[in-house]
Amino acid sequence: MQILDKCKAYNRSEEVKNQGVYPYFREIQDSEGPVVTMEGKKVVMAGSNNYLGLTTHPHVKEAAIKAIEKYGTSCSGSRFLTGTIDLHVEMEDKIAKFLGKESALLFSTGFQAGQGVIAPLVGRGEHILSDRDNHASIVAGNMLAASLNINVVRYRHNDMEDLEKRLSKLPLEEGKLIATDGVFSTFGSVVSLDDIAALGKKYNANVVVDDAHAFGVIGPGGKGTAHHFGVEDDVDLMICTFSKTLASIGGFVVGDEKVINYLKHKSPALIFSASPTPASVASSIAALEVLKANPELPAKVRANTEFVRQGLKDSGFQVVDGETAIVPVIIGDDDKTFKIWKMLYDEGVFVNAFISPATPPGMQMLRTSYMATHEPEHLEYIVATFKKLGKNLGLI
Ligand SMILES: Cc1ncc(COP(=O)(O)O)c(C=O)c1O
Repeated sequence: MQILDKCKAYNRSEEVKNQGVYPYFREIQDSEGPVVTMEGKKVVMAGSNNYLGLTTHPHVKEAAIKAIEKYGTSCSGSRFLTGTIDLHVEMEDKIAKFLGKESALLFSTGFQAGQGVIAPLVGRGEHILSDRDNHASIVAGNMLAASLNINVVRYRHNDMEDLEKRLSKLPLEEGKLIATDGVFSTFGSVVSLDDIAALGKKYNANVVVDDAHAFGVIGPGGKGTAHHFGVEDDVDLMICTFSKTLASIGGFVVGDEKVINYLKHKSPALIFSASPTPASVASSIAALEVLKANPELPAKVRANTEFVRQGLKDSGFQVVDGETAIVPVIIGDDDKTFKIWKMLYDEGVFVNAFISPATPPGMQMLRTSYMATHEPEHLEYIVATFKKLGKNLGLI
């Protein structure tokens, strides 16, 4: 048996494609707005992470175009060597100031930021405490650390008792890093970051939060989970992505200047990968400017989300409560999830189908998410279409 033989034997995706209900890798043929052209027809987008709808904002597009004209299309190198342009430094200054931290460091994606911050910070004889439901980028950082014999402890999802029990078993004087998502991307739930910050203090642990789905959505001015709870001074590091609210591609971490400087010189994900392109970083700067100039946008996306959450709840769907831009609609098995996904798509609504193991068994769902730029007619159409199909399928 050769390594690649398992690929030839893998046919689950073909089975679903043959049933005509395969929901993944569908092609979008224009911009990621509230309505998109997909495979030749218009659909209302209810599955994007473009939370503030800024990927099509004129100021953001203009910034990307101007950056290409001035700097070309790529920096062709790592930040460490020839890949730093003044725009990277400008964004680092602006995002650190916005979030009230001393310093920031950009990575080429949010995934690289997660992996590239966690692993280099923790050494032998030190410990990572990681929520079981953390994003794959933190898990990748944990795995890298574990391969270097660093102790990685996974605690039950957002379970403060379990976290405290595990913290209390570790020697107080040994270094510990508590790593958590701020908003968990599948269920859209907000972590108890105030409790984590308090446990961090009590047990001499540093705290890092991945705010990919919180930035621009919760907290005053959209500053994310730590600001939402008012614990920004007790959370040491915040990791984030440009690929959601900031309408681009890239990632960053903010924290104390000394920590950021350490990461600059110790993080392989930063040192051995080319820097974000000029257009990417310019558009993220412009998106941040739009957010700062329009502090009502986070409340707008939350209100849009709440409209749909309530509408689906009133229709009889099992939805998960929350305060972010994500509304999970629990369907409960793979086949039914694919079936209603396809029917929604045929009716002109695009959502994301999440099946096991991405969800716990029985929690297979349609993960829906909203933008500040959705108009009432889009939201009403989403609710009405769900209701019609839910009835047809006997789901409600
Ligand atoms: C919680 C979380 N962290 C990190 C990332 C990775 O971000 P990026 O798309 O910039 O790689 C994502 C994206 O899905 C995410 O949901």
